[in-house]
Amino acid sequence: MSGLSVCQAIAARRAVKGFDSSHELSEEEKKQLFDHTFLAPTAFNIQHWRVVNVEDKELRAKIREQAWNQPQVTDASLLLLLCMDINAWKKKPERYWEGVSQPVFDMILPKIHAYYYGKPQVQRDECFRSCGILAMSLMLVARDMGYESCPMDGFDFEAVGKLINLPQDYVIGMMVAIGKGTKEPHPRVGKLPLSEVLVKNHF
Ligand SMILES: Cc1cc2nc3c(=O)[nH]c(=O)nc-3n(C[C@H](O)[C@H](O)[C@H](O)COP(=O)(O)O)c2cc1C
Repeated sequence: MSGLSVCQAIAARRAVKGFDSSHELSEEEKKQLFDHTFLAPTAFNIQHWRVVNVEDKELRAKIREQAWNQPQVTDASLLLLLCMDINAWKKKPERYWEGVSQPVFDMILPKIHAYYYGKPQVQRDECFRSCGILAMSLMLVARDMGYESCPMDGFDFEAVGKLINLPQDYVIGMMVAIGKGTKEPHPRVGKLPLSEVLVKNHF
């Protein structure tokens, strides 16, 4: 780890479009990246993310065809498809609270059920909330490790879903490319003033 503060990592993270295609992360680096990333929070601790690490070069090339031919897809050291299991909340939810005290365990399981049961919009929205948090964690840990990243939704979600055999009750949130940057990002432009994006009390 580089020892950047969280604020420094946030300031240094940029969407980078050029990567050294010969660079690979070591197994130890990948473990460090993933171990930290998956500490990100999910509501009720349901951890409904299922991240596909696309290592197969041919598959990367096929995904690139469906992603506006963006070079990050094939050139980055890692191409991660952040997929979410819409139904994770009901797939043995007791796993998510194993080891907690009995009173908490008894209280939380019915709450999980009540929160999601019969509410497809909530189930889906929750996927995208968690996906965004995961993506940012991934990019900040990568930055701390000296790597660049690019979050991406410029691709045909249906076609890419077919290429990775996405299960029926899963959605793809976005993909994130990570690697050794070879291209300076564009200067930061167009940042809206705080007075527009930060609202006091109510609209
Ligand atoms: C959800 C999401 C999808 C994005 N999709 C793409 C993409 O497909 N290709 C790309 O080059 N950049 C993509 N970007 C990068 C944005 O253009 C970039 O984050 C934004 O311009 C701000 O720049 P910065 O990240 O360097 O601060 C995406 C960013 C986000 C958050």
